[in-house]
Amino acid sequence: MDTARTVEIDLEWVEELTKRETEALDRKHARSLSYREEAERFLPGGVSSSWQSWPPHPIYVRRGEGAHVWDIDGNEYVDLHNGYGVMVMGHAHPKVVEAVQRRVAEGTHFAQPTEDALPVAENLAERYRLPQWRFGNSGTEATLDACRIARAFTGRSKILKIEGTYHGHHDSLMVSVFPSEEQAGTRDRPVAVPQTKGLPKEFVDLVVNVPFNDLVAAKGAFARHAGEFACMIVEPAMTNCGLVLPDPGYLPGLKELCRADGALFVFDEVKTGFTLAWGGAVEAFGVVPDLVCLAKALGAGLPCGAIGGTDEAMGMVIRGELDQQGTFNGNPLTMAAAKANLLEVMTPEAYGRFDELNAILVRSLEACQEHGLPANVKVLGAKGSVEFRDQPIHEYRDLWDIDDRVPQLAWLWQLNRGVFKSPGSKWESWTTSIVHSDADAQRYVDNLEEFAATVARGA
Ligand SMILES: Cc1ncc(COP(=O)(O)O)c(C=O)c1O
Repeated sequence: MDTARTVEIDLEWVEELTKRETEALDRKHARSLSYREEAERFLPGGVSSSWQSWPPHPIYVRRGEGAHVWDIDGNEYVDLHNGYGVMVMGHAHPKVVEAVQRRVAEGTHFAQPTEDALPVAENLAERYRLPQWRFGNSGTEATLDACRIARAFTGRSKILKIEGTYHGHHDSLMVSVFPSEEQAGTRDRPVAVPQTKGLPKEFVDLVVNVPFNDLVAAKGAFARHAGEFACMIVEPAMTNCGLVLPDPGYLPGLKELCRADGALFVFDEVKTGFTLAWGGAVEAFGVVPDLVCLAKALGAGLPCGAIGGTDEAMGMVIRGELDQQGTFNGNPLTMAAAKANLLEVMTPEAYGRFDELNAILVRSLEACQEHGLPANVKVLGAKGSVEFRDQPIHEYRDLWDIDDRVPQLAWLWQLNRGVFKSPGSKWESWTTSIVHSDADAQRYVDNLEEFAATVARGA
C-alpha cells in the first residue's frame, strides 16, 4: 500500500461507527448506567468534577492495580488515562501502599509540618534545579501560588500565557483554554476568552495570550506590554493539544524575554513533571525557570501540589513578607506517599521503561499510515499522542483542523477493546506507567490498526 497517500475521512461513516460503538459500550455498562441515575440524585451529573463526565457517560471505576483498572461493571482496561497522568508509578504500588498504611496509623493531619516534607523538598530541588519549595494540594493551587508570588514580586498584575493551555480552575488563568475559532480573534492578537461563566471580566482583561512555539509573537506581546507582565507561564511541552514539544531555542528565548522585561518565567509542570523525564521538562529541555508548579504524579495518587523557585523568586515567602498557605499543605499522608514515590519508586533508573514502551507505541504511526489515515505520533517519557492530521500539531490553533468526531470515535474504539484513554482525546495525551507491559502497549496499537482499517474502509 502507498503509505504517503491519505484517505479523505468519511464523517458519515464515522458517525455510524460511533453509534455502533456507543451501543456496544452501553451494553457493557448496565451497572454504570443505573449507578449514574442513582448518583445524579446527589451529585450534579453523577460525578465529583465536571471533567469526569464525558459522552456517552462517565466511566465509574472500582479499582486499579498496576497498569490496569476495572470499572463497576467488572470490565478490565489497560489504563492510559492514568488519572490524567498521575499514576506513572502504577496503581497501588506496593511501596506507596506501605508508606501510606504506616502513616495513616500514626495520624493523618496536624496542620503542622512533619519530617517527611524535607526529603521530598530536597528531592524536588535536585530534580528541578530550584532550591526553595512549598506544598499545596493540587495543580490549581500551584499555579495560583505562582501568579500570587509573581504579582507580589514584580508589583505588576498582567499575565502572559499560551493560547490553548489549561493551568487549573482559578480565576487568574481560566482564560483562552479551549477558545473556539469564532471567539479567538486573529493569531497575531488572540482575544482573551473566558473559559467559564462566572469569571469576572477584570481577571480576563489581565491575561494576554500568544501562540505556542512562536518567539516572535511572544516578543511582540512583551513589546506591546513592556513592564506590565508579572510573569509568563508556559506548559513547557503542551499536553492539552495532544503532545506539542517546544521548538529548539523556544524556551531559552522566552526566558531571555522575561529576564529583559523583569517578569518571572514560570513552568507549569503539573503534567510534564515526573512524566517527561526524572526532572520533568527542566531536565528534558535543559531550561530552569524562576518558578516551577507541580502536582499530579507528585503524590502518587494522593492530592499533592508544590511550587518551587529560586531564592530570589521565593524571597518574599522566605522572609515572611508574603504568605503561601493552606490547611492541608504538606499533609502527613501526602508527604509520606510523595516521599516513597520520589525516593523509592520514580528513581532515575525507572525512567528507562518509558523508552521501551514508546518503541512499541510509535508503531501507531504505521498502523494509521498503512490504511491511509492522516496521523502523527509523538512520544516523550510517559507522554504521547496520536493526532489525526497530516502535519504535526505545533500550536493550539492547529487542533481546529481535526474534526472532533474522529478522536471521539478513536477513544470509544479503544474503550470497547480494553484500553482506557483520557476522554477528550483530541486534546489529551496518553500517560504510560513504569509497570505497563509490552502487551499493554501493543493492545493500544492493535486497536488503533483495526480502527484505522475500519474508518478508512468507508461506509
Ligand atoms: C498543565 C496543568 N496545570 C494545572 C492543572 C490543574 O491541576 P489540578 O486539576 O490538580 O488542579 C492541570 C490539570 O489538568 C494541568 O493539566
